[in-house]
Amino acid sequence: MPFELKKVLVTGGAGYIGSHVVYTLIKTGQYKVISIDNHHNSLPASLSRVSALALSELKSSLNRDPTESEVESTKIDAHTADLTSSSSVNQIFSLYGQGGIWGVVHIAAFKAVGESTQIPLTYYANNVSATLSLLQVMTQWGCRRIVYSSSATVYGTPPEIPIKETTRREPESPYGKTKVACEWMIEDLCTSTMDGKSVPFQAISLRYFNPAGAHPSGLVGEDPKGRPGNLLPLLAHIAVGRIGNGDPANEKSILKVFGDDYPTVDGTCVRDYLHVLDLAGALDEEGKLNERVFKSRTDIVGGKDRRPGDAKFKAYNLGKGIGVSVLEIVEAMKKATGFQFRTEVIGRRAGDVPYLIAEPTLAQTELGFSAPRTLDVMCADLWRWQKANPQGYDA
Ligand code: WQD
Repeated sequence: MPFELKKVLVTGGAGYIGSHVVYTLIKTGQYKVISIDNHHNSLPASLSRVSALALSELKSSLNRDPTESEVESTKIDAHTADLTSSSSVNQIFSLYGQGGIWGVVHIAAFKAVGESTQIPLTYYANNVSATLSLLQVMTQWGCRRIVYSSSATVYGTPPEIPIKETTRREPESPYGKTKVACEWMIEDLCTSTMDGKSVPFQAISLRYFNPAGAHPSGLVGEDPKGRPGNLLPLLAHIAVGRIGNGDPANEKSILKVFGDDYPTVDGTCVRDYLHVLDLAGALDEEGKLNERVFKSRTDIVGGKDRRPGDAKFKAYNLGKGIGVSVLEIVEAMKKATGFQFRTEVIGRRAGDVPYLIAEPTLAQTELGFSAPRTLDVMCADLWRWQKANPQGYDA
């Protein structure tokens, strides 16, 4: 019986986090990745580059020709779909048949804290109804494993730092609220019972702190459309001249700092930045998605029989446990790019919280997660990507 690759569907696979997750999964040679994005071309540049990268790395890691299934694992089925439409998602699942898709990594979402305070309903439509459609279609097609991309923003302003997964969820932005709403949906599905039997659905929610950096090849990275909302890609666009023509004296090159009156080391917000490849590594490093993420366990009858360790829904914080302020990020990017950024403090951004720092022990012990890449490595990898792709993928 030829080795059967597990089919894993990644929503948002062509995006920044998605492309690095796809790269990490296909590099193991254990999975056939199916990507669903709302892009409108055959195979997004990010995925074709990831596929080629994984194949070349696979070939150089073997001292033999790769088997047919290993080569097959580096080819990505890329689909376009409107994730908020269950019929559109249903069409994709129908291509692979009942039980054809082994698991889903759900990454696609709008994710800008500030923007979500301006267009909340767009965030609820895109983030919550898309997840509802996906879950409905998954149950119809017998797909019963999901990794949900959640966010540290579910915690709002934490009562203490570093933040544990047991910290209450009190989001302070519509974006954070959409993430909690989706966690609730998934948790309720996992713990639901039908005719006294539990619905055989297993899930984990990965609460990303602040992903940063890029694959060290410089081939794959963050490519926001228009002016970046996030700090690090914005600094990279300024340094490469996409904003402000590469001139530090240009008004447009000035970084507007959203407030320096927070109760933090230098008054600016503190975040826990982790390398996007370390984030992706929490999912899998060597084909252990099932053992590490989806504990293969027998169905648990109803809620009464569940043992404490048998949570069928579990959340994990993914961060380094190290807080870095906005001004410290600016200094790190000066060092990586050589660009002399100027800053100007303006008012706070709606939805921002003073600090978000992870307590990552649970992910470390239960998922084998580790985040060894330093802030300097994140900035150097980000800069290598941006220098090599000043206009992003659409060069
Ligand atoms: C970082 C800090 C800003 C821009 C992001 C994603 C979110 C989640 C976590 C995945 C904040 C400050 C920014 C600027 C600034 N990721 N800043 N001037 O808001 O922590 O959230 O990472 O789930 O989806 O949005 O990141 O990079 O937007 O901001 O002063 O021009 O930089 O106030 O304190 P954030 P960010």
